[in-house]
This record gives sequence, C-alpha cells and structure tokens, in this order.
Amino acid sequence: MTNKTDRIIIFDTTLRDGEQCPGATLNIDEKLVIAKQLARLGVDIIEAGFAFASPGDFEAVSKIAKIVGTENGPVICSLARAIKADIEAAAEALKPAVNARIHTFISTSDIHLEYQLRKSRAEVLAIAEEMVAYAKSFMTDVEFSPMDAARSDPEFLYQVLERTIAAGATTVNIPDTVGYTTPSEFGAIIKGIIENVPNIDQAIISVHGHNDLGLAVANFLEAVKNGARQLECTINGIGERAGNASLEELVMALHVRRQYFNPYLGRPEESQESLTNIDTRQIYKTSRLVSNLTGMLVQPNKAIVGANAFAHESGIHQDGVLKNKLTYEIMDAQLIGLADNQIVLGKHSGRNAFRTRLKELGFELSDTELNKAFVRFKEVADKKKDISDWDLEAIVNDEIQQAPDLFRVELVQVSCGSNARPTATVTLRTPQGEELTDAAIGTGPVDAVYKAINRVVNVPNELIEFSVQSVTAGIDAIGEVTIRLRYESKVFSGHAANTDIIVASAQAYVNALNRLYSALQTQEKQKEISAQKV
Ligand code: KIV
Ligand code: ZN
Repeated sequence: MTNKTDRIIIFDTTLRDGEQCPGATLNIDEKLVIAKQLARLGVDIIEAGFAFASPGDFEAVSKIAKIVGTENGPVICSLARAIKADIEAAAEALKPAVNARIHTFISTSDIHLEYQLRKSRAEVLAIAEEMVAYAKSFMTDVEFSPMDAARSDPEFLYQVLERTIAAGATTVNIPDTVGYTTPSEFGAIIKGIIENVPNIDQAIISVHGHNDLGLAVANFLEAVKNGARQLECTINGIGERAGNASLEELVMALHVRRQYFNPYLGRPEESQESLTNIDTRQIYKTSRLVSNLTGMLVQPNKAIVGANAFAHESGIHQDGVLKNKLTYEIMDAQLIGLADNQIVLGKHSGRNAFRTRLKELGFELSDTELNKAFVRFKEVADKKKDISDWDLEAIVNDEIQQAPDLFRVELVQVSCGSNARPTATVTLRTPQGEELTDAAIGTGPVDAVYKAINRVVNVPNELIEFSVQSVTAGIDAIGEVTIRLRYESKVFSGHAANTDIIVASAQAYVNALNRLYSALQTQEKQKEISAQKV
C-alpha cells in the first residue's frame, strides 16, 4: 500500500469513538443496525469497537465482523491498546470478517508519557514497534496511532512512525487527541511527516481529531492538502468531549469543492469524479438513525444535516432561491437524501406496498420486525392521512430500536388544562409480566407522566434533557421525543415516536429507564461472578 492513492478513504469511528460520549451507549443489535447502514453509506472502514473493553464490545465487533464484514463490505476494525491481550482480543473478535484491521495505539506526547504512562520515550518506541509486529502476526492490515501526536515532539513522532511502518503498519494515524491544533499547524505536521519519515510511502497517512476548538473538519481538510488520505470521522460528529470530525461535513466539503481539492490528489481540476466512495444520498438517513439510536440530538444549525441547513428564512434569500436556487444554495438537498420526502403511503396501503417502500428506502427487516412495524404503520395511518418517507423512517427506527424490552407502556392517560392540575395515570407491564398502575400530579402533563412512571419503576434518576421534534410539518405530524437521564454518574438516553407526544414522552422515558435497568442488572451479574471467583 502507498499513500499515493488519489481518493480519500473514509474510516468511520461512530461505533467506537462516537459511542464514547456520555449517554450514547448502544447495545449490540443497535450497533449492528448502524453498521449495516454505514456499509450502505459506503464507508471504507468501520471501527466497530474496542474488543478488549468488555464482553459486550467483543460480541459487537464479532457480530459486525460476521454480518457486515463480507467480501464486498467494508473493512471491519477493532481498537486495541499496544498490549498483547488487547491485540489478541481484537484479532479473535475480527476473525469472521473477510477484511479486517487491528488499530493499535500508544501515546507519544511527553505530557502523556510523564503523567499517564510513566514511561520513557525509548520504552514507548520499543512497545509500539513490538505491538505492531504482534498485530501483524494476526493480519496484514494494521493501523498504528501515536496518541496525542499533534502535541508530540516531531522528531520523536517521525522515529515512532518509521519504526512502526517497518514493523508492518499499513496505515499510520495522526491524532489531534485534545483538539488543540489549528489547520495550518495540522497541515504542517502531515507535511513534516512526509518529508522526514523515510518509509512513509509504505503506509497510508490517516488523521483523527477532536473538535474542542471547533476545528476538526478544517484541520482534516488541510491534512488532505498535505498528503493525508484516510479520514477518521463520525456521523453527526459525535464522540469524546466535543466530538470528532463530522463525516457528513468532510464528505460534502470534498464533494462540493472537489475542483479545489482535485489537484491536491493529483487529479485534473475539472474532474467530476467523487473523491470518496460515499453514497451521499444516504447521509441524511444515516444521521437520523444515529441520532435516534444514540439519543444525541443534532443541533438545528448543524452543517449538512441540521434541520435548518437547507431552510431559507430571510425574505431576500427566499426571493433569490425562488428565482434561481444557486443564488443562496451551494448544494442540492437531494444530494444528501433530504428532499426524497415523497408522500407514498396511506391508510389503504397494504403490507406489500409497505414492504416494497421500506426496501426501496434500504430497510431490510426480518418478518417479525416487518410485522411489528406494519402494525405501527396502520396505527399511525389511522391518525395521519399521508405517510411520507420520513414518517416511515421514524416508525421503523422506533420499532427496530433494540433497547431491552423490560418495562412496557400499556396505558397513558392525562388530564390537564388551564384550570386543572396536571394529573397522569400510567400502566406499565413489568419485566415479570405484571401490570402495575400508578398516578401522579405534576407541573405539566409530561412531568405528571414521568412521576407516575417513577412510582412504578422505582429507580432514582434525574431527567437532564427532554426534546420534542416533529418529523414532518402539519398538525398530524409524528412527534419524536428524545430524553436523557442521569443515574449516579452515568447517562442513559431514550427515544420514541408517536402522533401523540405525551405517549411518545412516556415511551421515550421508559426506553431510557429500560437501558438503565438493564445496566443495573448487568452490574449485579458481574458482582455475582466476581464473588463466585473469590
Ligand atoms: O483521540 C484519540 O487519540 C483516539 C485514538 C485511540 C486514535 O481516539
Ligand atoms: Zn479519539
């Protein structure tokens, strides 16, 4: 492999770095749903997790490797510290994938060496070299990351890169772990690597960066101009702290401005060929799927996928766009799959039409999932005349959510109004199959519902975020509720869609409580196992 590729490789780390943000925790089946969609989107590499981190992570990597890591599918990758046990776990979990990669890392900045690793440069150099060689003994595709590279001494960085490439690294990734660099500095780091690492032509240069100063995407684009050919990014930019560079922003910047970037990749300026393998029409759908399953909302003014990204409010802008879209639009909403919002189904549509449209939208549901989704579709169609593609996506995303089905909402009833004290009655089915009903008074109907639910579930928690968004315009629109709650130091998210927003609020809350309840059960089980070992 050589870094002379004339295309940009997209390495998606939504399921690894993205999942590291508080509350974004996904279960194995949800990770699989996202991985399948990432494959449809056309990412080259999916970092599916950190196999050694927990049995759940191991299983997720392994399942994705088996189901998504097919002959024509993306490369499936697992992260591993530069430690033998991590590398072994990664190799084992990746076995079912046709194309697999181990991504191993160790810090190289003096600040990390002194305070975190408590190791000398010579020790780190030796470990990096040895562990890359060890990873190489399992597979040919090995990526090495010198963590905190952007704050590392350049001479030491060059040395580490030279030795790890010699030991077999086929990709060397340069992380701006703390999101500190500016675009010109980051570009200069890549340039310095190309000029000072003698065997750099034997590896692809990759970049990874956090958005602490809001510069991650700009840094990456500068890195591309200086020779980086792999970009590590996440859907909606989710990730540790302020997140990672956002996939949709990078891909669309490279697409919309390809004439600007073409010469840096050795292409004729006027070439219309895509710089990435991404099917841009899948971007919006992927963004919504990740937002729904992680509970990480997309800010309305977010570039590319925010609700306002293609909305024109000012009269002057609207006037211009009506006369010619190019006056105020640099890209067509259809390019990201946003305008494909056809009204396709209604209450007379049958199962076949439903199945066919879902297939066209890229949803492959099992018979059980399809049956469940069809029942929901009929319920919604009774209340809402026209069902658009977005409504269908909301219904299906809601149905295929894989939050543990412990408590179920059976009934929600509220009484409220200007002269009434908001009162709610709820009936939940417990994990043991019992139906429990309770009632409460609140400051508003949702508060009353949540208080009543808490009386049944009885797990102390603090609601830290509550949001309602409508899927389409109109009085009969489906409302999507996303909530986040805190239990001790952990955050859990929940999501639900319904034409009745009070019902959606109850379901979203129970959805988050189920995740919390399931985490508590796992914790209990782990305690029991440790006690047995002692
Ligand atoms: O931010 C970082 O440095 C990382 C590495 C593991 C690549 O996530
Ligand atoms: Zn990171």
